Amino acid sequence: MTSGAVAGKLALVTGAGSGLGRAACQVLSREGATVIAADRNYEAVQETIRKHTALASGSNAIGDHTAVELDVSNAKSVQSLLQMMINQYKTPPTIVVNSAGITRDNWLVKLSEEDYDSVLNVNLKGTFLVMQAFARAMTEAELPGSIINISSIVGKYGNMGQTNYASSKAGVVALTQSAAKELGKFNIRVNAILPGFINTPMVKTVPEKVIGQLMKLIPLGRLGDPMEVAEVIAFLSSNKSSFITGAAIDVSGGY
Ligand SMILES: NC(=O)c1ccc[n+]([C@@H]2O[C@H](COP(=O)([O-])OP(=O)(O)OC[C@H]3O[C@@H](n4cnc5c(N)ncnc54)[C@H](O)[C@@H]3O)[C@@H](O)[C@H]2O)c1
Repeated sequence: MTSGAVAGKLALVTGAGSGLGRAACQVLSREGATVIAADRNYEAVQETIRKHTALASGSNAIGDHTAVELDVSNAKSVQSLLQMMINQYKTPPTIVVNSAGITRDNWLVKLSEEDYDSVLNVNLKGTFLVMQAFARAMTEAELPGSIINISSIVGKYGNMGQTNYASSKAGVVALTQSAAKELGKFNIRVNAILPGFINTPMVKTVPEKVIGQLMKLIPLGRLGDPMEVAEVIAFLSSNKSSFITGAAIDVSGGY
């Protein structure tokens, strides 16, 4: 018998090889879920399962955690992941966390079309492809569920050097709100989290000078920890948030 806020549930986490996705795997497994950790970087996601998730898990009702290679921007890759999950677990996941994301920062006047497209393809189209495939599977199986999309605070306020990234993340909020309206009748909730600046490999690419300036704009005066976002993911995954859908929640230290 497992205990915890999401005990016995099957959870898919994309971008699970690093940062927020890896922290989400840790917290969801701690709360009793079986986790499928998916990432473009297979070695990283295996490490998530070996070193992080496995340590955090109790006994699982559904089965063992799994690491899988996935490119969220590729519809075939998403479909084969769904098929693999149905074969292995005999059910689609009822928790889906879209955390895969990339940045390709540059000034608007210098940004290449390629860097614009790649960010939109992973962050926005990737979220769409995963949501569509797994929402379809949940409705066909008549299962209630919770989908959590990781947007960003810069999708709300914009950010210099991130016209591509900010527009992809604003799109994720619109995608979330629209899907929540469509999927409510199936008891599938869809919510977005807007993290501020969180201490992950993604933020390590931001120059120190810029971080120093940002710090003055964060009332709590520090970067966030990935676990502080993961706890909100676990809350939105669980029945504790049973009347929350279509929400976009800032986890930003007040930025
Ligand atoms: N760290 C922050 O401050 C911050 C703030 C706001 C939003 N976010 C968002 O949170 C999410 C996680 O960011 P993070 O900080 O953990 O970044 P990260 O770079 O540490 O991790 C992102 C993971 O996504 C994976 N990934 C990239 N492209 C992929 C693809 N096509 N298919 C599957 N996996 C892919 C990477 O391999 C990596 O493991 C992203 O969507 C990011 O935009 C992060």
